[in-house]
Amino acid sequence: MAKVVVGMLGFGTVGTGVIRILDQHSGISLKKVAVRELSKKRALSAPCPITANPSELVDDPEIEIIIEVMGGERPALDLLTAAIEKRKHIVTANKEVLAKHGPELFKLAASKGVAIFCEASVAGGIPLISTIHKGLEANQISSVTGILNGTTNFILSSMEEKGEDFNAALAKAQELGYAEADPTADIEGFDVAYKLSILTALAFGHFANPKDINRKGITSVMPEDFKHARDFGYRIKLLGSTSAAGDAVDVRVRPSLVPILHPLANVSGANNGIVVDGDAVGELMMVGPGAGELPTASAVVGDLINLASALKLPDFASYFQAAIEPGWAKLAPAGDRRSAYYLRIEVHDHPGVIGQIGTIFGDHHLSIRNIVQQGVSYDHASIIIITQDVKEANMEEALAELSKKEFLKTVAACMPIYAAGGKHA
Ligand SMILES: NC(=O)c1ccc[n+]([C@@H]2O[C@H](COP(=O)([O-])OP(=O)(O)OC[C@H]3O[C@@H](n4cnc5c(N)ncnc54)[C@H](OP(=O)(O)O)[C@@H]3O)[C@@H](O)[C@H]2O)c1
Repeated sequence: MAKVVVGMLGFGTVGTGVIRILDQHSGISLKKVAVRELSKKRALSAPCPITANPSELVDDPEIEIIIEVMGGERPALDLLTAAIEKRKHIVTANKEVLAKHGPELFKLAASKGVAIFCEASVAGGIPLISTIHKGLEANQISSVTGILNGTTNFILSSMEEKGEDFNAALAKAQELGYAEADPTADIEGFDVAYKLSILTALAFGHFANPKDINRKGITSVMPEDFKHARDFGYRIKLLGSTSAAGDAVDVRVRPSLVPILHPLANVSGANNGIVVDGDAVGELMMVGPGAGELPTASAVVGDLINLASALKLPDFASYFQAAIEPGWAKLAPAGDRRSAYYLRIEVHDHPGVIGQIGTIFGDHHLSIRNIVQQGVSYDHASIIIITQDVKEANMEEALAELSKKEFLKTVAACMPIYAAGGKHA
């Protein structure tokens, strides 16, 4: 049988893994690889010519599938667009380009009768996308929630286990190669927002515009919050979630408290863990390596083998392609979300402070489940509060009123508490 001819844009971490795995698969012929710098030393030699001109691959009529593992928005977008225009199928690991340009790329692919496969773009080696797209096709998905970034999970795990502060844990993650020299995309939650955009498309039919995703990273999480969280039976994780909210979708990235007995709380180090809630299957959880050379390449080559095996079937692309509509998802207003909250409020230790906090919370319909005051020093106390299920808008209003009080030093932490069933409690 004739081999399927493919070209690969990028020969970095993931591209290297792809070449290693392809070595064991005989039905696919890698014709050419494109890189930025030809003179760079590579971990292994490519089994085909290498070029610094990616258009050579896109313009080659013999190449049927383009593997895009170069990353970033541009030139990836232009190259993918040009490849789809030429009716080449796509396998990509690039969450950023999909999150920012998914609607246009999928629309173009549908019009050209080609498929875009992107298993590696979310949760690395975990077959999450094919599970949602094919395995759970019988279900109405109500939410997808999880730990979608290994770097931040490594940092939070180190902070909890070793009592390190954020900067020390980040430096260690960089030293061990888990975090980039510029860690912004990970620690500020952009990477998770990109992945949620894609998961929203698969679960609810439209990409979520990453610019509009309600996002908070982990830079303000302090070592003492892990201790307080543990005293109440929780761990702190950076959770991304996309969930049905009437005719809209609630998509958010937040450091959150997770009950210690929930399996998500036990996803440690650089792993990812995702809970999918479907009406027929109930709650389903997947855990595994969310990044790394071979785990990510496993997802890329899996896509490639699936795609290659279908190439000769008539009109197969529409069967493989998830039903993603043009345009962006309608996002629910952030303030509508209900959740229990963990708060750490630093105050001047004056008589009557707790009473005043109670009055402000009561005025804004916030019910307190637990409250603990700890003296820090003369005139300084930490007040730790766990609320009942409250509306985020009410919480924001209460905190705005609290901020006007002279006794307040700072609201040092305000994090939602995750509850099973895919919702923040
Ligand atoms: N690394 C992971 O664990 C992981 C996990 C999941 C998803 N992903 C995604 O996979 C993709 C690749 O990640 P990676 O870690 O493999 O990246 P990487 O190590 O930085 O490799 C990127 C590759 O693309 C090439 N490249 C970049 N810009 C180019 C340009 N303008 N023209 C030609 N070649 C260009 C680079 O060439 P040079 O080698 O010459 O610089 C390099 O070979 C990204 O979208 C990433 O988000 C990665």
